[in-house]
Amino acid sequence: MKAFTVSFLFLLCTQAHAQPLRSLKTVPVPKPAGLENYVRDNSALIALGKALFWDMQAGSDGVTACASCHFHAGADHRAQNQLTDPLRPFPPNLVLDMVYFPFRWLSNPEDRGSTVLRDLSMRVGSMGLYRRKFLGIEPGQAAELGEELQDRPEFTVNGLHLRRVTQRNSPSVINSVFFVSQFWDGRANRVFNGFTPSGNTIDAPGAWATTSAGLERRPVRLDPASLASQAVGPIMDHLEMSYEGRTWPQLARKLFSLRPLALQTVAAGDSVLGALVHSSGRGLREGYLDLVQRAFLPAYWEWPQTLDGGFTQAESNFSLFWGLALHAYQSTLVSGDSPFDRFQEGDTSALTPDQQEGMRFFQTTGRCTTCHGGPEFSAASFTAGAGRNNRAFTRTGVRPVEEDPGLANGNFKSSGLRNIELTGPYFHNGGQATLEQVIAFYERGGDFGANNGAIRSFRATPAQRAALVAFLKSLTDDRVRYDRAPFDHPELCVPTGHIETAIAVAPYPNSARERWAAIPAAGAQGHLSPLGTFEDLINGSNASGRAHSMMEACTAPLP
Ligand code: HEC
Ligand code: HEC
Repeated sequence: MKAFTVSFLFLLCTQAHAQPLRSLKTVPVPKPAGLENYVRDNSALIALGKALFWDMQAGSDGVTACASCHFHAGADHRAQNQLTDPLRPFPPNLVLDMVYFPFRWLSNPEDRGSTVLRDLSMRVGSMGLYRRKFLGIEPGQAAELGEELQDRPEFTVNGLHLRRVTQRNSPSVINSVFFVSQFWDGRANRVFNGFTPSGNTIDAPGAWATTSAGLERRPVRLDPASLASQAVGPIMDHLEMSYEGRTWPQLARKLFSLRPLALQTVAAGDSVLGALVHSSGRGLREGYLDLVQRAFLPAYWEWPQTLDGGFTQAESNFSLFWGLALHAYQSTLVSGDSPFDRFQEGDTSALTPDQQEGMRFFQTTGRCTTCHGGPEFSAASFTAGAGRNNRAFTRTGVRPVEEDPGLANGNFKSSGLRNIELTGPYFHNGGQATLEQVIAFYERGGDFGANNGAIRSFRATPAQRAALVAFLKSLTDDRVRYDRAPFDHPELCVPTGHIETAIAVAPYPNSARERWAAIPAAGAQGHLSPLGTFEDLINGSNASGRAHSMMEACTAPLP
């Protein structure tokens, strides 16, 4: 009896951690309860969200979209001016190269006790905005009025300002709807308060709603809606999308005065926006206010007068609209049709024998499913127990705890691994360029500190390592690889690094010029060539036959 209890408990514990692998098609997409109290047309909401996510006019500089850091399989693989280090000096505007990876380099990568040849505390993040103070908007203009502010030396070259870089690597937004909370440290809460990422309604004033008696503030509490909580973060963040001091109603007034995506080509065959494309082929013919009014109940925008401060009800409720629209759009970014999924659905030829061997290794010797189990390959998903299991956030010792505590004590979100081949560099610090480097990291039992046995070193033969990599590559959905629906998108121009001379145009004579690359528009059928990996890009092998080569010229007018 005792033996039975012990083994039963053991079974319970291990099962609570390691969810069985299965097709993502078996998992319903979580939806916020009570959404119908705000939304009347979900397809209009998705269209609004997709336009806002890709619109370069949303950032204060008039050229930075959410997508600017999430354009490549939902992540960012740019190679220049992507470094930062909150703790130490680092080279500005550096072009990343394979020689810098992995950031912690050992004489024997499989042995964590071997000689340390290099150890870098830098992070590969994503470049956002120049540091500027917000001075105002000019209706009809995407670029806001700003004033240059002094920045730290690493974001300055020859006295010229550079775009600043986020302190962590951009994770993919694809399949993020399945996470209970967002960000590497989970700080975007599952409860959306209508205004901030924290989930705490004390932080939020509530939404303005009309009633028979007039206007009232109504607290917002939508759950599960971590993608909405997340979305209201970067758009107001001074490093990512906003000059310092901009407010929500000001952003709304600007966007309501502009044609959605006016700078960008939108494919006539876009799976969501195709029906709305402007006759010029650029942007949409329906405005943001029209889309808001189609998507949301009149109680949130119909008030005929302006409120205190001179803004309309719709402008005053813009954080609510923004959060829910981006939540709705990103909820459609589900990649459940990889060879792995087809194998799980019974197509035994979908995985090669090598990939099947890698899958066995992943579940057994590698113990990867402890934290990357279930259909989402993450213990931080709803399937894995709504984040209440102790593997949702774990300490794998990527960097010393003092450098970045994550959620606390060096715990970071057990990321999902789908499409992982395309979303390098890896880990919260972007310190590994290839899957082979990641596997060596696990093989040596991590780099810093103990982890209560969660990460244990193991031995693998070269053939087993190759099989594990082959298995991880079977998690790529070809719709992601070719930007096919629902992953199709408008054109986007992204800055790809600075030329170290001044823009020399008022009002920003001290900002450095920059290079741009086009991510061409894709309709529902996607591109003919596949997306490349981060390694392809920094090796230069991206040029031949890859979409997102980062060498295509932009058609959008740029500063
Ligand atoms: C300047 C680059 C940048 C911009 C612009 C940006 N992001 Fe991100 N995004 C990041 C980084 C970096 C992280 C990780 C931050 C962290 O975990 O601390 C992130 C995290 C996320 C996540 C969490 C995914 C996960 O697995 O936890 C989502 C979702 C997301 N971003 C969506 C958006 C949306 C929506 C916008 C626009 C409102 C946006 N991002 C704008 C860089 C950016
Ligand atoms: C104890 C839990 C745990 C185990 C076991 C584990 N991982 Fe992870 N994994 C994590 C966490 C946490 C992160 C994020 C760490 C960070 O960035 O600091 C991560 C990140 C990753 C990433 C990078 C994700 C990205 O988007 O950058 C890959 C790839 C990965 N793991 C693969 C594996 C493989 C393969 C195994 C088995 C050999 C494995 N993991 C075992 C917890 C775990």
